[in-house]
Amino acid sequence: MRFKLFTLSFLSAALFLGCGGDDGASQAAKFSQPLAVPPVLAPVRTNGVDLYDLTAAAGSRAFISDRPATPTYGYNGMGYLGPTIRLTRGQAARIAIHNQLPADPSQMGSMPDTVPGATSVHLHGLEVPDTADITPHGCCSPLAPGGSATGAVFTPDQPSATLWYHPHPHMDTGRQVYMGLGGLMILDDPADAALGLPSTYGVDDIPLIVQDRRFKADGSFDYLSQPKDMEGMMGDHILVNGVESPYKQVAATRVRLRLLNASNRRAYLFALSDGRAFQQIGTDGGLLPAPAPVTEVMVPAAGRAEIVVDFSGDSGRNLTFASRAFVEAPGRGDGDGASSTLKEGAPFPIMQFRVGAAVPSSSLPAKLATLPTLTTGLVTVTRLFDLERGADDTINAKLFDMNRVDEVVKAGAWEIWSVTNYAGDIAHPWHVHGIQFRVLDRSTGALAPNDQGWKDTVRIAPGETVRMLMHFDKQDGLYMYHCHILEHEDMGMMGQYMVKP
Ligand code: C2O
Ligand code: CU
Ligand code: CU
Repeated sequence: MRFKLFTLSFLSAALFLGCGGDDGASQAAKFSQPLAVPPVLAPVRTNGVDLYDLTAAAGSRAFISDRPATPTYGYNGMGYLGPTIRLTRGQAARIAIHNQLPADPSQMGSMPDTVPGATSVHLHGLEVPDTADITPHGCCSPLAPGGSATGAVFTPDQPSATLWYHPHPHMDTGRQVYMGLGGLMILDDPADAALGLPSTYGVDDIPLIVQDRRFKADGSFDYLSQPKDMEGMMGDHILVNGVESPYKQVAATRVRLRLLNASNRRAYLFALSDGRAFQQIGTDGGLLPAPAPVTEVMVPAAGRAEIVVDFSGDSGRNLTFASRAFVEAPGRGDGDGASSTLKEGAPFPIMQFRVGAAVPSSSLPAKLATLPTLTTGLVTVTRLFDLERGADDTINAKLFDMNRVDEVVKAGAWEIWSVTNYAGDIAHPWHVHGIQFRVLDRSTGALAPNDQGWKDTVRIAPGETVRMLMHFDKQDGLYMYHCHILEHEDMGMMGQYMVKP
């Protein structure tokens, strides 16, 4: 069992006080509330640079009808989550943050060594210098409550993609995200407008930020109250854009869904409950070469997928969007990490689409993007990363140390990173900052379409090795790589790599 010393006292206190979770109150699929769509944050342009201003603050939100409102965090007065940042390829931008979070040292989940309420902003998936994050690479010396900070100017130069932003203060990321901090970041390459993909935001181009949460009887989030929570927080209530089990009215037409798994730990095997095929058009870092017909897509924590669902023949019908059953650790039981009555890999409904009148839509283009051919011919270095061999939350037997650079990479190099989930009984979502890479192969078998585009977050199952082709062609700097189960990351399952000439 994964039981960390410094959490023992507060965990046992929590258990004795009986403030455990929501056992038995299983997810009721009501589909009674409309889906909210996060507003797009209008930037302020000065001297050709778009400034996106974020204010992090406490708020509250009534998530569940029969319980008091939940104390939350959110950006820009939203109470929970934040506005969508919309960047354009080639357009200079920067992010500013004003930290109005409470400096309450008693907040559950705050670990020793953290400044209570200190936060940062990491631009997940963007290939920009580490200084574009608020506090370099988001992790260390985060911004104390009351402070403001502005990241360095950056100019995105990568394909259109669905990315996101979230806090990254070491040892408090999990709690801050669970409380509600995070938001979508869409990057548009103007050249892709010619593809004619569904692109009316909130209408036929719909962001879905999917999260699971566990609530206490008093309505508050039930964060880290049980020993197994250290395996990664899970919950039995499914929120989409901060609304529990919502419905969304759509026209009978092709609809693009931008799926972001912003959960602390849970992976989703997204599918329509009638089992129909849909087209996957994009992965974490951009469009696929061509639409890929699939009936399900596995998205690990922090991953994204863009899909197009054809509702043309469905006027008047209601369709359920769901997560299908899957086995987390084939041959190894279901892992020991299930801290929710809704286990990892259990099937459950997520939301409902209510299909209205028909609206004609053009078919998808046969070709979406040109990706470089996958060749290892230029690779000069292969690095091995061993997850949790010997000790929990380690990478290559080490816990994170902000004063240690784990890997030094030559600028411009082609490398293979081979990541092994050697002996674990749960899957780890492997994430690397500052780069989009390609998956070369999985030791367990074939690659799904979701493995075949630009990636920054890859699920690595127990016993599996995944090899990635990395080309460090963008910029020098100090970046992180880590498991994106936020509690693992907070416990130290993270390392740093330096790119230099
Ligand atoms: Cu979503 Cu260190 O990242
Ligand atoms: Cu990242
Ligand atoms: Cu992990």
